[in-house]
Amino acid sequence: MTDDTVTATGFVRACAISDIPDTNALAVRIGDVAVAVVRSQDEYYALADSCSHAEVALSEGDVDGGVIDCWLHGSEFDLRTGKPLSLPATEPVAVYPVKIDGDAVYVNVDNPIEQES
Ligand code: FES
Repeated sequence: MTDDTVTATGFVRACAISDIPDTNALAVRIGDVAVAVVRSQDEYYALADSCSHAEVALSEGDVDGGVIDCWLHGSEFDLRTGKPLSLPATEPVAVYPVKIDGDAVYVNVDNPIEQES
């Protein structure tokens, strides 16, 4: 995969690894979907870039230890599952599959990862 076209599997090039800040997310848009791309503990994640409590960008929050904080009211979300770990948010945010190819980060927004209830 070397270009930013949609692949047969639905993965779209979101950014370069080097574009992602160390302690924050990178806000990208894939089609109509706002996505927060995150690196934490040498793993890569892509979440819907909208807090489930109110519509603010999660990408503006801090990332640490597998968690992203919502900057507005402080809910923490698990990067792997999208589930809130603290109030006031009670609903998960969508999490999308990520693939790395060289320095490129690919995200599939058409197939969010199933969340256990
Ligand atoms: S808007 Fe994110 S916790 Fe309230």
